[in-house]
Amino acid sequence: MCGILGYTGDRQASDILLNGLAKLEYRGYDSAGVAVLNNGEIKIAKNKGRLKVLEEKIKSGQEVPGTCGIGHTRWATHGEPSDVNAHPLWSDDMSVVAVHNGIVENYREIKNELAEHGYKFYSQTDTEAAVKLIDFYYKQEKNPLKAIIKAIHKIEGSYCFVLLFKDFPGEVWGARKDLPLIAGQGKGESFLASDVSAILQDTRQVYYLDNMEIVQLKKGVVRFFDTEGYAKHKELSEVTWDMNAAEKGGFEHFMMKEIHEQARAVKDTFGSVYHSGKINLEDLGLADENIKDVSQIYIIACGSAYHAGAVAQYVIEDLAKIPVRIELASEFRYRNMPLDKNALAIIISQSGETADTLAAMRRAKDNGIKTLAIVNVVGSTIAREADSVFYTMAGPEIAVATTKAYSAQLIACYALAIQFAKVRGVIDDAEVARLITEIQALPEKIDEILDEKEVLEELAYKFVNARNAFYLGRNIDYAVAMEGSLKMKEISYLHSEAIAAGEMKHGPISLIEKGMLVAGIMTQKNLYQKIASNMLEARSRGGFLLIIATRGCEALKDEANFIFNIPETDEHFAASLAVIPLQLLGYYVAVARKLDVDKPRNLAKSVTVE
Ligand code: F6R
Repeated sequence: MCGILGYTGDRQASDILLNGLAKLEYRGYDSAGVAVLNNGEIKIAKNKGRLKVLEEKIKSGQEVPGTCGIGHTRWATHGEPSDVNAHPLWSDDMSVVAVHNGIVENYREIKNELAEHGYKFYSQTDTEAAVKLIDFYYKQEKNPLKAIIKAIHKIEGSYCFVLLFKDFPGEVWGARKDLPLIAGQGKGESFLASDVSAILQDTRQVYYLDNMEIVQLKKGVVRFFDTEGYAKHKELSEVTWDMNAAEKGGFEHFMMKEIHEQARAVKDTFGSVYHSGKINLEDLGLADENIKDVSQIYIIACGSAYHAGAVAQYVIEDLAKIPVRIELASEFRYRNMPLDKNALAIIISQSGETADTLAAMRRAKDNGIKTLAIVNVVGSTIAREADSVFYTMAGPEIAVATTKAYSAQLIACYALAIQFAKVRGVIDDAEVARLITEIQALPEKIDEILDEKEVLEELAYKFVNARNAFYLGRNIDYAVAMEGSLKMKEISYLHSEAIAAGEMKHGPISLIEKGMLVAGIMTQKNLYQKIASNMLEARSRGGFLLIIATRGCEALKDEANFIFNIPETDEHFAASLAVIPLQLLGYYVAVARKLDVDKPRNLAKSVTVE
């Protein structure tokens, strides 16, 4: 996830770009850059680091004069944050210069094909492959529109490009697929941006681009084209949001915005290892022979990342038949357990900076154990020190309570589970294909659940004054219960506990009072009746039974107080769906209690102290 911007008009482009990028920094901030087209020449300035570093470098814009330009603030996906990998990227003769948000999934294939035509590459980015592909077609067509159309027919993935063509002064071009891009219309000037917050100070008149649309900006003129090259008419909309709402994409809180970004995070994370019909983990240091050598797996993490690991434990053990231990990093780092040198340690962390997780990883490494980090922040300490890294593609997470990074971590673990199962001969190609199809269907199912969120909003008001809650589950559903319970307590301050359902009778049941929320997660068919019995024990003591169950689960349909059904999926991946209503419930209870959802008390986004 990155912030991108384009401007053409009569004002200095750099002023507009620097102001607009400041509003987009929440989308990424590891590097920034601008390109300005002036007198037939494109001047580029870019660097690693925050936008203010760029601002100083170009003397608030004086170093890049001109009235037509593009800008970028980066959240690294391919290639570490560095001056070279920062956007804009250019073709060798500077004919085409572009900024990009998203992932070009087939960039290796494109690079190889272009290399045969003499193209050389200077960065580690997927973007450079796309820019040079557009340049390749541009050299044939001498027409930006035709070149972009040819390129987007070839590029796989989700993306949004904003481009300058040296020979087309005063013009900015853009195209999008699956990621947001809006065009703004001002008097004698026009804009492109990842979201309206970046241009709201200049205009409220915007067009929302649809998927696979191409846009051309000239001073005060915005034109749209389809992928056949035909011009399209679009309706102009008036933005009524204030600036605060615009940064959150119109949502009241970043947390809700991020909950809605989960389908994309899931798709992009899987897309990063799934190419040409296959999961490929070789770039993660997991070639087939390495996978075969692994004797057991330790998963090490804290908080929600630990909960993602807890799901992974069940999934990997069941699919790949490898023993998996899930370890709290803060415990693992001080425990004197005998460690197996042939094990693989999987370290999960959104920030890549969590002190306990980092220390635990170092301990594993000191003991000669190979480490694979599943990390969201590119270039973070854990990412740098791990033997290899599987980057989740969640993009920057602003809300303290994690949602989309957790969902992306699950997907990374599923991809590992399937590949381990395949390479170790536990499942055949047909089963691999079936499981992959199930994963690919998850984003749509997540959005289907989000379409029903209002019923959970209504339910939440029932618990505005509640003091305690239980979340029950068994197996994968227990792991989901842990995450659901944490979401509730950390943002709504309602004390909640996750309980492996079979354990309730060993003590916790004494806490159940009339009206207490007892949430039961039911996605594993063979355990429906077992959880149902535990839930009935809670009900007979006055508990309010909320059931999150896969569609078709009939258990408790007459006894539950409230049932929320989630779409069917392969049971190994059910956590990805069951967690969504639980995130929503925690969110809505916190909102009903009028709490600061994005910044809950006493918590920090990155826990860098022990
Ligand atoms: C809960 C939450 C925390 C983090 C934990 C680990 O919503 O966000 O529990 O999961 O602090 O953080 P990372 O993943 O950055 O290592």
